[in-house]
Amino acid sequence: MEEKMNCELEVSRRNFLSTSGKILAGTAIASTVLASQADKAHAYGYETGFAYTKLNPEEVANITYHNYFKRWCASSVIAGFSELLQKKVGGLWKTFPIDGMRWAHGGMAGWGALCGTLTGAGTICGLCTNDTDVAEAMANDLAFYYSYTELPSYTPPGKPEKAEIHHMTMAGTPVCHISVGRWMRAEGSAFLDPERAERCARLAANIAMETCHMLNDHADGKFKPKHALLFNVAANGITSQNNCMDCHGQHVPAPDTYATLKK
Ligand code: HEC
Repeated sequence: MEEKMNCELEVSRRNFLSTSGKILAGTAIASTVLASQADKAHAYGYETGFAYTKLNPEEVANITYHNYFKRWCASSVIAGFSELLQKKVGGLWKTFPIDGMRWAHGGMAGWGALCGTLTGAGTICGLCTNDTDVAEAMANDLAFYYSYTELPSYTPPGKPEKAEIHHMTMAGTPVCHISVGRWMRAEGSAFLDPERAERCARLAANIAMETCHMLNDHADGKFKPKHALLFNVAANGITSQNNCMDCHGQHVPAPDTYATLKK
């Protein structure tokens, strides 16, 4: 199993270098830095005791969607998985404290930082994969998916819980405030409107579904990360997103000013 995992990671790292680098800026330098970074990634296995079995992504999404209106973003993604896993594999899932992560809603207690759906999804990946690099690669791919996909595309079967909504937007970032703000502007709704809650519930369902696809692939031994680990750090010289101008306007500080990475 471990051998297969290592092989998988090697393949995926080569894949990182050949694909992600082309998509984002700073390719040549970033790839070189990344190659040396990847060698030093110091991944290690660990054992959580939380077993995973393949789940139906639609089912996970649906549970997540309905949980949202009570539990909000982070815990609802966790509920989407744990409510099914406690029935299908039991064990530690039976006593998993789903609401222990509820504080992560609204980008952490309403501070608009990391979208809670990603905190919830990352927690599930960390519990189910038992390898630091695999869990991180999944979280990283999720951040890319979240940032560069028009969302929410999930439509609940049957009557929506709160409202019909009409827009999908691309966040360009995993930051809650910017993601929600872009959607609110497109839809013309306020934060406390039922439409905004509906949007975040559907978004949570989308993230849960994407996570489920990755975990199912992993269970089949065929999960391949789409994007480079620590790409943003390598390419930008600082932990970062790629929407620099959203915050810095026209005056994005040059990352080269800070020689924190060997180049
Ligand atoms: C979510 C908002 C946000 C985004 C997006 C963002 N930054 Fe920043 N960045 C800041 C803030 C706030 C500071 C602190 C300094 C300040 O207030 O200007 C900072 C500081 C920095 C610094 C160190 C301080 C300096 O002025 O030299 C660098 C370098 C930097 N950013 C580069 C980038 C790059 C490159 C990107 C895109 C890849 C980026 N930032 C994206 C908000 C952001």
